[in-house]
Amino acid sequence: MIKRLWQHMWAASPLPLAALIIAGGIGGVIFWGGFNTAMEVTNSLEFCTSCHEMQPVYQEYKTSVHYQNNSGVRAECPDCHVPKEWGPKIIRKIQASNELYHKFIAPSIDTPEKFEANRLRLAKHVWQTMKETDSRECRNCHSFETMKIDGQREKAQKMHPKAIKEGSTCIDCHKGIAHKLPDLSAASKQAFEMLKEQSKTVNYNSSHLTTLATASIYLNDEDSKAAGRVLPATTVEPVDSGGKRVKVKVSGWSQKGAEKIIYAMQGQRIFNTALSKTAVPLVDRGETITLESTGQEWTAVSFTGFMDKKNMISEDKALWSYAGDLYENSCSVCHNAPSPSHFMANQWIGVLKSMVRYTALSKDEQRLLQRYLQLNAQDTGGKGKH
Ligand code: HEC
Ligand code: HEC
Ligand code: HEC
Ligand code: HEC
Ligand code: HEC
Repeated sequence: MIKRLWQHMWAASPLPLAALIIAGGIGGVIFWGGFNTAMEVTNSLEFCTSCHEMQPVYQEYKTSVHYQNNSGVRAECPDCHVPKEWGPKIIRKIQASNELYHKFIAPSIDTPEKFEANRLRLAKHVWQTMKETDSRECRNCHSFETMKIDGQREKAQKMHPKAIKEGSTCIDCHKGIAHKLPDLSAASKQAFEMLKEQSKTVNYNSSHLTTLATASIYLNDEDSKAAGRVLPATTVEPVDSGGKRVKVKVSGWSQKGAEKIIYAMQGQRIFNTALSKTAVPLVDRGETITLESTGQEWTAVSFTGFMDKKNMISEDKALWSYAGDLYENSCSVCHNAPSPSHFMANQWIGVLKSMVRYTALSKDEQRLLQRYLQLNAQDTGGKGKH
């Protein structure tokens, strides 16, 4: 019977072959339709929230402008997370098998704690994807061409023309647009804790000691009243570590008329130490130079005093690497963090002052950041880290 059918199919008559092609075609259409339906179903808010419902991403999104706004146009999860174009969409769906794996086999975000622990990793992946595609999904709805920039809010009017000129992309400046930002500082906080741990076992006889935090400097081992303050990431030279405190020498430059401050470099407002009035006469003064550019007089100085044996490290490499991370994490949320060499050392003071209000940095973190940026500025170029 089968043999006969087979023979029949391959017989001269073209009819069965045509039937086969038609049947195949219909099958294809059904498969195609089913495939597309599957694509549609898996591309809805309902589908996404069937897994992501209990997580803050959904709750936060529901309070955002993309869920409800004056124009009544809603951007749903797939609008921002799944490409519209065929090729990239299929690729995204294949990548989604990773999500299936993490849903059913190795759950990664099934409890609030696990979600929080993974949030930064996931967000970074989204940022990277959006950067690579030049924020393609955002541009399905928005474009610079159709924006009435002069009708926008002041900050947008300032930043959008800059973005067009510099070719930066939406996600460079619009992170946290639909969900709360992950805690970027958590990783750097951990790095700082490790530095503090390291400081507990530091050898106070090392050739150099670098401060982790703002610290007092005293005239004597026993004094309770400080003679000045040494700023974070300042490197001092231990002279005698035998006492309760460590006796150290802070060196640098002082400007005529501002003798209370010891700066790290001549002509640059990079603070090492601020001294009290009574300590100023005890400063050792060396050669004085007159800067050609400004006519200012700067003198090489050093001050010897006593510091508590805490919050110091002998090798500062890890501290600078921490400062670099702190900078990236704090300053690349709303725009690309400019390279430290984008500004002069003295300009960084004003720039940072206007921007720290946007961050949750502590006073000491601000001081460390300022020093990091100043020491890597256009006119210092990382030369004078010590
Ligand atoms: C079967 C459950 C499930 C469904 C349905 C689901 N997700 Fe996910 N999703 C996950 C899991 C689990 C992770 C974490 C993956 C990991 O740990 O790497 C995740 C991670 C993500 C991430 C962050 C990481 C990245 O690579 O982009 C985004 C964005 C995301 N999902 C969006 C969506 C959207 C949009 C939809 C609807 C089209 C959706 N998900 C549907 C389970 C799901
Ligand atoms: C499905 C279309 C759609 C997509 C995709 C989309 N948006 Fe929007 N976006 C809107 C609508 C609609 C509004 C609200 C307009 C209004 O205020 O009435 C909006 C508002 C905004 C606003 C103004 C926010 C505010 O506080 O007023 C910003 C910024 C923005 N979108 C950025 C983005 C970015 C970045 C992406 C990509 C990650 C994106 N949008 C993706 C439609 C979309
Ligand atoms: C260089 C940074 C930067 C880039 C890049 C950028 N934006 Fe903005 N955008 C801003 C700032 C700053 C605001 C004002 C935010 C505020 O007022 O809180 C803004 C505001 C907006 C608004 C609201 C405008 C208003 O006043 O109603 C929309 C919509 C928007 N951006 C969309 C986009 C889209 C889409 C892209 C990518 C095509 C993009 N932006 C790229 C910085 C940027
Ligand atoms: C307007 C665009 C937009 C919409 C709509 C949107 N997201 Fe996101 N989503 C983002 C961006 C941008 C990020 C990257 C992190 C950030 O900047 O907040 C992100 C990050 C995520 C992450 C990674 C974890 C995290 O918190 O960063 C998940 C998971 C996620 N989205 C799921 C969803 C789900 C589920 C929906 C719908 C309920 C949704 N998103 C709707 C833009 C969007
Ligand atoms: C919460 C968002 C946000 C954070 C975080 C942020 N900035 Fe900004 N930044 C802006 C906005 C908005 C502007 C433009 C308007 C203005 O000057 O306020 C801007 C402008 C700037 C400019 C000037 C750009 C120019 O050429 O005119 C610099 C430089 C800058 N930021 C550096 C930083 C540094 C450094 C940090 C970290 C300490 C930082 N920003 C953190 C939002 C932010």
